[in-house]
Amino acid sequence: MKYFIQTYGCQMNYSDSERITTILHKMGYTKTDGFQDADLIILNTCSVKQKAEDRIYGLGEIFAPMKKKNPNLKIGITGCMIREASGIRNEVKHDVFRIMPTIDFVFQIKDLMQLPEILHKLHHTEGAEEVKDLCSYFHIDPTVTNLAQVFIPISSGCNNFCSYCIVPYARGREECRPMADILDEVKKAAKREAKEINLVGQNVNTYKPDDTDPESGESPFAQLLRKIDTVEGVDRIRFYTVHPKDMTDDVINLYGELKSMVPHIHLPIQSGSATVLKRMNRHYTPDRLRELVQKLRARLPDMSISTDIIVGFCGETEEEFMESCNLIEELKIDLIYVSKYSERKGTLASEKYKDDVPAEVKKDRFFRITELMKNISHEYNQQFKGEKVKILVERIRKGYADGKTPEFKMARFKADDPKLIGKYVTIKVDKPMEWCLEGKAV
Ligand code: SAH
Ligand code: SF4
Ligand code: F3S
Repeated sequence: MKYFIQTYGCQMNYSDSERITTILHKMGYTKTDGFQDADLIILNTCSVKQKAEDRIYGLGEIFAPMKKKNPNLKIGITGCMIREASGIRNEVKHDVFRIMPTIDFVFQIKDLMQLPEILHKLHHTEGAEEVKDLCSYFHIDPTVTNLAQVFIPISSGCNNFCSYCIVPYARGREECRPMADILDEVKKAAKREAKEINLVGQNVNTYKPDDTDPESGESPFAQLLRKIDTVEGVDRIRFYTVHPKDMTDDVINLYGELKSMVPHIHLPIQSGSATVLKRMNRHYTPDRLRELVQKLRARLPDMSISTDIIVGFCGETEEEFMESCNLIEELKIDLIYVSKYSERKGTLASEKYKDDVPAEVKKDRFFRITELMKNISHEYNQQFKGEKVKILVERIRKGYADGKTPEFKMARFKADDPKLIGKYVTIKVDKPMEWCLEGKAV
């Protein structure tokens, strides 16, 4: 039987899909490249914005004719859209079943170990016994597609309740994975020649597993970074996501000390306005952000900083929006993932505030902040002109090989050999652009 997993959302979901894949392979399913000839489709969904959920609901229609053609086809949904019990249609009442009659089952990712049982009921598969020894979600070896860059979950869930955010409702409270398990996964990845380790969690700085060393005097996250840095073969560590209120000095001080701490950090600020940050329930001020960036750049002066910004949050005035623009300029943030605020039912903001910034104003602010970023990024990228940069090749596309520099800058050179994927290549940059550095392999 053939399966296809469609993944949406953040790296956490991509990492979860690699674990789902392992279970399906153990049960004898084989991968296919699209919806068309699959007997099993799993949608691993994101809920962060209403649009993301609407896109999934929209798929309901295309599944009906597919099921007519292949009566064996079963379709399941997991990921952040599934916030209630896991199971099959006639056992579980879930909104998704009402809106999408073509769906057969849903499961929360924390119930991944129930998937074999669910599939056994629907497809009469025999492999359910095979996967019993996998014991829990965190113990499943992921089936990775990209050997050079791996995404390793260190925790799941979130305790923060930023007023706009659905994630704590979708993923539940923070659960930390033992350090020993993470190190084990890092070592296995390094043996397969992984060069870049991406640690994922909603708030990596609050990572606190039971096997923390209380004598160390450092935060558990700093301890973890130190341990990963010593694993042979690992030479880039990235992590997503840091919460500015919880970033500790001991982690900042590892920049410039540990060989694998890259000169880049993703620091989601969401807004540069003290009043908006307060309504967002973020528990930090613009001054705290200034202090953090100053400390980071004191360690590595050319550090690249990327961020997330929400425009048009409840009550955001033009002045408050401009405070974001000014702070971005002041801190020289060169990559911004901008989102237009989307009201999420059940969150604090949806109960307390009005989603009152008109759609066209959100669109205009989205556009203006994107233009601002292009200018900063263009200026930042000029420093690379004529310089050599080392990139880890991620893909071959339209006659180019592209990948990221340690600073998280996309860089490319002319090439068409897929064997380059996962390899380091040094290029001499002759064309630094807003989005990309272009050059020739040396
Ligand atoms: N844990 C991360 C964020 C996870 S959600 C952090 O604290 O930064 C990823 C991003 O989606 C957020 O950074 C935010 O910019 C965006 N986002 C979350 N909820 C949103 C909403 N209701 N509307 C628009 N964007 C949202
Ligand atoms: Fe959402 Fe805030 Fe948690 Fe990030 S820290 S996942 S934005 S609640
Ligand atoms: Fe989306 Fe869930 Fe990630 S809501 S952004 S997939 S944690």
